[in-house]
Amino acid sequence: MTTLHFPTDFVWGAATSAYQIEGAWQTDGKGESIWDRFTHTPGKIIDGSTGDVACDHYHRWQDDIALMQALGLRAYRFSIAWPRVLPQGVGAVNQSGIDFYSRLVDALLAAGITPFVTLYHWDLPQALQERGGWPQRATAAAFVEYADVITRTLGDRVKHWITINEPWCVGFLSHQIGEHAPGWHDWRAGLAASHHVLLAHGWAAPVIRRNSPGAEVGITLNFTAATTATPTSENLAAVRVYDGYFNRWFLDPVYGRHYPADMVEAYRKAGFLPAHAIDFIVEGDMEAIAAHTDFLGVNYYTRAVLKADAAGSGFPADDPEHATLPRTDMGWEIYPQGLYDLLGRLHFEYRVPKLYITENGASFADGPGADGMVHDTRRIDYLRAHFRQAHAALAAGVPLAGYFVWSLLDNFEWAKGYTERFGLVWVDYTTQQRIFKDSARWYRQVIAENAVT
Ligand code: FCB
Repeated sequence: MTTLHFPTDFVWGAATSAYQIEGAWQTDGKGESIWDRFTHTPGKIIDGSTGDVACDHYHRWQDDIALMQALGLRAYRFSIAWPRVLPQGVGAVNQSGIDFYSRLVDALLAAGITPFVTLYHWDLPQALQERGGWPQRATAAAFVEYADVITRTLGDRVKHWITINEPWCVGFLSHQIGEHAPGWHDWRAGLAASHHVLLAHGWAAPVIRRNSPGAEVGITLNFTAATTATPTSENLAAVRVYDGYFNRWFLDPVYGRHYPADMVEAYRKAGFLPAHAIDFIVEGDMEAIAAHTDFLGVNYYTRAVLKADAAGSGFPADDPEHATLPRTDMGWEIYPQGLYDLLGRLHFEYRVPKLYITENGASFADGPGADGMVHDTRRIDYLRAHFRQAHAALAAGVPLAGYFVWSLLDNFEWAKGYTERFGLVWVDYTTQQRIFKDSARWYRQVIAENAVT
């Protein structure tokens, strides 16, 4: 096999999020989040667990930075817990929350690791949920206040900001499918929440730019490659609807194309949107959502194999019979080529000027063997295959600037609790011991050589 070299300044990193690793859910004045509330509600998390302690990163952050240094990471993507900073969502600031992140940023910079900060990775203050949460427009305004507070304090040192992580999950997974907090099953709420979270992004972007001179500002979207095994016109229509629901509904407005007309039509027909004016869109919103950004963050894991729904609803159905590729423990098919296709589409079709893969990785349960080592060969294979596709995209002219592996540590995987392990580093949740997996050693070498073999 050939060795593929990456550009000299390519940013190799790893990612985490606050709720998934910090723990310390009631420490030093932190307020309650919707994930605290959700995990403490019986039946919501597969193993009945919570993020109360998680990886205890709130207390072990110095050791975790040492791990990052040992890995040779050039950058680290983490998120800020909004209720740690503004316990009620707006108003009074909790200085110890700010101090925690300020120390973290200083220590990362001292270690030569560039911080990439996500402002919203799903842990909405519960106080804002009490007022209606993301389906309410006021939540977008609250986010701007929070973004202002954070970027006024960290904006001198942090120069890479991600406003929102995965608006599809905030909107639909949380309000329509109901698998994530706050666990609603309501299409209209899902659509309104999606709009307000995009609005939060668009309104905050110029504020961040003002507070953090010279910074890069972007948003992270998640994408699933939509495919069908049998390209009949019905099946292809189903693929297009899935792509509209999952990918285009967010991508189009962020890049100034408004909501996709075919999907507006489909949602109207289904009764999910009003027949005429869409009530949650106010004049100026679409311009705000299309705010200037410097980069797009891309989260990519898998594909969806689809067919037309037998009832003729026009909405797609899964086609499990034809989803035959090897899977990770999440049940997600491994489809590296989808990453290449996606990166090309984003740059050549949407003219995205700069891209970072802000998440890509795999859940495999492999743990320490008799030799005390974690031989997670499947994770190495997964990452290698995706790195090669990223390289191919670069060679084709896609301005890909960096790659963040999900995740630095095994951690709390939302509704899946601690049953899924995405880490480069194994975590023993009883002792909080961390062990480098083989994939971490392998990744260290990739970074050191700036190349994949
Ligand atoms: C993404 C989330 C991240 C993690 C991975 C597996 O959707 O952004 O927090 O859970 O999936």
